Amino acid sequence: MEIGIAARLCLLRLRAPAEAPSPATILLSMTQPLTNPGSSEPYASGSLTLGARPLDAVPMLDLRRQYEQVRAEVLEAVERVCASQHYILGSEVEALERELADFCGTSDAVGCASGTDALWLALVAAGLQPGDQVLTTPFSFFASASAIVRAGARPVFADIDPHTFNLDPAQVESFLRGALRDKLRAVLPVHLYGQCADMNSLQRLADEFHLSVIEDAAQAIGARLGSEAPMAGSMGVSAAFSFYPTKNLSAYGDAGLVTTSDPEMAEHMRRLRNHGSPRRYVHEELGWNSRLDAMQAAILRVKLKYVDEWNDSRRAHAARYDLLFAETGLASAGGQPENAAPIQLPLTTAGVHHVFHQYVVRAYRRDELREFLSARKIGTQIYYPIPLHLQPCFVYLGYREGDFPEAERAANEVLALPIFPELTEDELRRVVKSIADFYC
Ligand SMILES: Cc1ncc(COP(=O)(O)O)c(C=O)c1O
Repeated sequence: MEIGIAARLCLLRLRAPAEAPSPATILLSMTQPLTNPGSSEPYASGSLTLGARPLDAVPMLDLRRQYEQVRAEVLEAVERVCASQHYILGSEVEALERELADFCGTSDAVGCASGTDALWLALVAAGLQPGDQVLTTPFSFFASASAIVRAGARPVFADIDPHTFNLDPAQVESFLRGALRDKLRAVLPVHLYGQCADMNSLQRLADEFHLSVIEDAAQAIGARLGSEAPMAGSMGVSAAFSFYPTKNLSAYGDAGLVTTSDPEMAEHMRRLRNHGSPRRYVHEELGWNSRLDAMQAAILRVKLKYVDEWNDSRRAHAARYDLLFAETGLASAGGQPENAAPIQLPLTTAGVHHVFHQYVVRAYRRDELREFLSARKIGTQIYYPIPLHLQPCFVYLGYREGDFPEAERAANEVLALPIFPELTEDELRRVVKSIADFYC
């Protein structure tokens, strides 16, 4: 049976009253085991047979395919670092900092050990004092909030926009116009899944209430609000990037970086990442060891040349998913709870240059669908199954279930599908076909 007809038949069945969602699976790891380098290899290990038809696995992410493309250049860069015998900071890191500042359109960039540390550096350099508050989204990776605590401040949350999953300026505004804002010093929007938060509205509010805006751009290298708009990383006073191996620009280990156009702030962060030390064995304040390795910097410099091309491939795959899902009749666009379609596609705000770090749908019976896909060796992930205000370590903040209904609903419904640049048309089709099979 053709998918379209099957989909229409299963939509009738799907209009039955919704079952209570089963408890969200707690899965914080970013990657599936990396299996099957591509569908061009018939019967690769991990293949399975459905009826008479063999199907290969579709990994959530397969970094080996990217490595094949850049192998020679990466090995040359590694050899260059080994030949120099200079492993920490130094000329490779300085070159990467210049190149990334240029890429993002800022005057400065400061390399560090991880995206988590980049957030910490940006927050401390913004001058937070103990007891200050920083407003962020409850629907992000843990570090968006934990870095605020590590910087000596207290995270406070506002709910997300159900269409973009990003911090909702209307919710931020109602917080700001409420009674509890006198200790608020900064707003930390996250450009989740590779789509910029509504920075224009957030900046207007920040200006009115004299707040610093610090971007969590960990998932958003190369993203912007429009084709001529400033890049992610250049819109706040500073911005944190992660180069964790699953990111659109990724290192071969942990690495991170802060961008800023405030040279004094950049100098402060350079000291902070090196134990608060302006000169050897002189410590003006407490910093940390968060220096970036020359090896990671050299590898990132190779990959930075390809990041626009890779982002374009991700955007093309997202458009292809949208089209294939539309053909099944199983999907509607974006975040409408009342909509009967079992799959709601990610919504890109008009004109926004989304870089699809993740392609995330909302799915009816999400956890069952995930199990079904897993049985077919199709990788998926849940980013993120527990909103930050409900994390056990943040009980002391005093939030309760029901405080941020959109973040909580998203945590129960979202499912990230494979979207890395080297994904093939065949694999994309297999993902969509398998989802259609589940609902029919
Ligand atoms: C939104 C967000 N913020 C911060 C981080 C922290 O980055 P890292 O893992 O490099 O410390 C991540 C990484 O997953 C992230 O996705």
